[in-house]
Amino acid sequence: MATTLITGGTVVTSTGRSAADVLVDGEQIVAVLAPGSVLLGTDLAASADTVIDASGKYVIPGGIDAHTHMELPFGGTAASDTFETGTRAAAWGGTTTIIDFAVQRYGEKVQDGLAAWHEKAAGNCAIDYGFHQIIGGVDADALSAMDGLIDEGVTSFKLFMAYPGVFYSDDAQVLRAMQKSAETGLLTMMHAENGPAIDVLAEQLVAQGKTDPYFHGIARAWQMEEEATHRAIMLAHLTGAPLYVVHVSAKQAVEQLAAARDRGQNVYGETCPQYLYLSLEEQLGASSEEWGAFEGSKWVCSTPLRSREERHQDHMWQALRTNDLQMVSTDHCPFCMKGQKELGRGDFRKIPNGIGGVEHRMDLLYQGVVDGHLTLERWVEVTSTTPARMFGLYGRKGVIAPGADADIVIYDPNGHTSIGVDKTHHMNMDYSAWEGYEIDGHVDTVLSRGKVVVDGNQYLGAKGDGRYLKRGLSQYLI
Ligand code: URP
Ligand code: ZN
Ligand code: ZN
Repeated sequence: MATTLITGGTVVTSTGRSAADVLVDGEQIVAVLAPGSVLLGTDLAASADTVIDASGKYVIPGGIDAHTHMELPFGGTAASDTFETGTRAAAWGGTTTIIDFAVQRYGEKVQDGLAAWHEKAAGNCAIDYGFHQIIGGVDADALSAMDGLIDEGVTSFKLFMAYPGVFYSDDAQVLRAMQKSAETGLLTMMHAENGPAIDVLAEQLVAQGKTDPYFHGIARAWQMEEEATHRAIMLAHLTGAPLYVVHVSAKQAVEQLAAARDRGQNVYGETCPQYLYLSLEEQLGASSEEWGAFEGSKWVCSTPLRSREERHQDHMWQALRTNDLQMVSTDHCPFCMKGQKELGRGDFRKIPNGIGGVEHRMDLLYQGVVDGHLTLERWVEVTSTTPARMFGLYGRKGVIAPGADADIVIYDPNGHTSIGVDKTHHMNMDYSAWEGYEIDGHVDTVLSRGKVVVDGNQYLGAKGDGRYLKRGLSQYLI
């Protein structure tokens, strides 16, 4: 098998950093060695098939984005990235694994939903991929089908306390599904917002003529997130289910998670770059010649952007530092302005909910290192190592160590990345939610299972490079 030696870089893992060379044989890392090592009398640099010079750069495990929605039918349309375009964009940004959400809705069979997602992804992905299962219709049939998910390598499922009539589960359904979670070890992922109450507020706002995108965030007030997070935690406590709350944006929701963790409960939370950087005030102020105040629809997502005046963003960074939140995913759910977001012109309730960002997570979080929010090690931990552990991939993914898949990113701290739809943008969207962001670093080289898929400004990968990952149980389960 072909060997690759990555020399001269600083290997950064969740536990430390050191000057080291990384030897890859075929698809796996076989050794992490002192720089310039001679192994069994062989000069590795002279004998490797390929040598990559990483001098002055960081060598990190490939990013794992554990929350994406490629091709999701939602909001009267479908997320605009296919598995092909979305995973290629992910690779460009240093993400080498995604975990996407297969969908089951009321009246549908769980197995059919999962099979449909396999069909969409198989042969199309640029990087490795796994699935969570959305259970959008908790009934006896779905509950019994959940027993089979672990054998399929799908070891987590998502419930929604939001979106009545779409994916919503009431408390009785949540309770039953959590009982299944406690019984099997499947990790319960929760969209924690009080959907029925939000729908009343949204209806009242629209009746008052408050139809602009900004009012999406007013209807989805932080109290709606805190209350649902608390309820999910209580139901998880009662049933003994392990709980992972997705896309946390309200500081009060973090406080609920922190209190539960302090009590010893098996509860975790993720946030997303949009909740670290963007705010409701900026969404309110957004206006353009083309779209007027509807410009704000670019950032309509749920949970919504939060007030900067109330300092939710600062609190998210702090929670990542203190481990009250454990990891960062994108919740990549892209829609174009033309023909998609514009469905909600005149009524914010009809704007497809979602932001695209799978390409920029590693860069945006690295900027958090530059800005003093995170250490280098914590950057690796929240973007790669913890997602691997949380979702049963650790050892194979999330680490630079012998035996791990050679999913490796060479990151240049002296490089620069200008984000913009006409600059560094490979997602299938007609705008960037991150337009104008400047990053003091750059994804230089990306290896996916030993193959160089990104080399500077060149894409060397191919459709179908990515393989399905059968995941084990969460490695955070006790
Ligand atoms: O706005 C969002 N988050 N769209 C995707 C669906 C979800 O709730 O994760
Ligand atoms: Zn959600
Ligand atoms: Zn989502």
